[in-house]
Amino acid sequence: MSTAEQNKIRAEEVLARCKRLASFSEDDGSTRRTFLSPPMRDCHREIGEWLTAAGAEVTVDAAGNLRGFYAGAQSPSPRLLLGSHLDTVPKAGAYDGVLGVILAVALLEALGGRRLPFGIEVIGFSEEEGVRFATPFIGSRALVGRLDEETLNREDTNGISIRRAIELFGLCPTEIPLAALGDDTLAYLEFHIEQGPVLESLGQPLGVVEAVAGQTRMEFLFLGRANHAGTTPMHLRHDAMTAAAEWIVAVERTARGIDGLVATVGQVEARPGAINVIAGEARVTLDVRHQADDIRSRAVEALIQLAEEIAAVRGLTLRRSVLLNEKTIAMDTFLVGEIAEAIRKTGCEVRRMVSGAGHDAMILAEKVPSAMIFLRTPGGISHDPAESVMTEDVSKALACGLQLLDQLANCSKFQKRMCRA
Ligand code: GLV
Ligand code: MN
Ligand code: MN
Repeated sequence: MSTAEQNKIRAEEVLARCKRLASFSEDDGSTRRTFLSPPMRDCHREIGEWLTAAGAEVTVDAAGNLRGFYAGAQSPSPRLLLGSHLDTVPKAGAYDGVLGVILAVALLEALGGRRLPFGIEVIGFSEEEGVRFATPFIGSRALVGRLDEETLNREDTNGISIRRAIELFGLCPTEIPLAALGDDTLAYLEFHIEQGPVLESLGQPLGVVEAVAGQTRMEFLFLGRANHAGTTPMHLRHDAMTAAAEWIVAVERTARGIDGLVATVGQVEARPGAINVIAGEARVTLDVRHQADDIRSRAVEALIQLAEEIAAVRGLTLRRSVLLNEKTIAMDTFLVGEIAEAIRKTGCEVRRMVSGAGHDAMILAEKVPSAMIFLRTPGGISHDPAESVMTEDVSKALACGLQLLDQLANCSKFQKRMCRA
């Protein structure tokens, strides 16, 4: 069978596995798999079996990351990390994150026991989306030693802290430091769907990511006065909901006025939340992204100022907190060059791009050279059950991955590069 035929069969298997994993969900009829929820255990079991069969040694670290180590030709040998995340948003598609992990498993399978001058560690990060605790990258932050006490104490809507969730999963939070990258780590590579329309519009299956755009995530609490909806005249109200609504529209207007800026209010929660009660409290979230950090910071400042002005005019108080502040991260230029070469050798044109979506690679890049390969996303649709990917593109990604592994295996410059930790 030709290599292309083998890659096609592997690609079909990759897609079937992603679809199977999408059935491991907290919700009936759609995919939601948050940090260390019960279906995450099913994912670990299933992927763990595939990794073991491919010759990897499988563990789950104390931050809930699934890790499968495929040893190198010699012992000890340095390691290359390949992975992505296993958690999902609510009503998710089957490929965001999961595809990168399953492609890595398929690359090990394609090696068929062949050992490289470096080991390969496949990582399925426990949390990237920030859904359960409103703070993302829990898994990858553990690898760079950035999972601090404050984060571990964050609680979900049921009052369970990250620390407690780890214990309830049968893991030990005091062992989190052991999850950190060792100085035998050479690099981190992540395959991911683009989650946008660019590659499709160019008719190209693969792209190489040069940078991941910075992002700020915040929470705002408008505090007004709950009161009777029938007896309180309009001019005597301190309605937290209308203040939040006015601000949400201002967020959209501001973002539209700044080239390349995206700003989203994705969650609104009003209290007490009854049809005949003026809202006394409105909690809203904010997500702001731009590839230039100074433009993002200035926009965030302007949005804070607007929220303060709106609250003041309506006689409300405003509380706010920053949940995440990640600057734009450049991917490693050497790896970007190697990926571009591998894409070319796979017979595709090279498209260099900036990722608007956040990825574990932006966290890993703090400590270790990191880079990403994007796969075309039909319709540019992601974070939705309609998310998809084409078999031919997965097949191309596998060919590109194998080519890349060969390039790196034959590059002594790469193997001498040491972790920046
Ligand atoms: C992750 O999917 C993000 O919100 O960028
Ligand atoms: Mn996502
Ligand atoms: Mn993702």
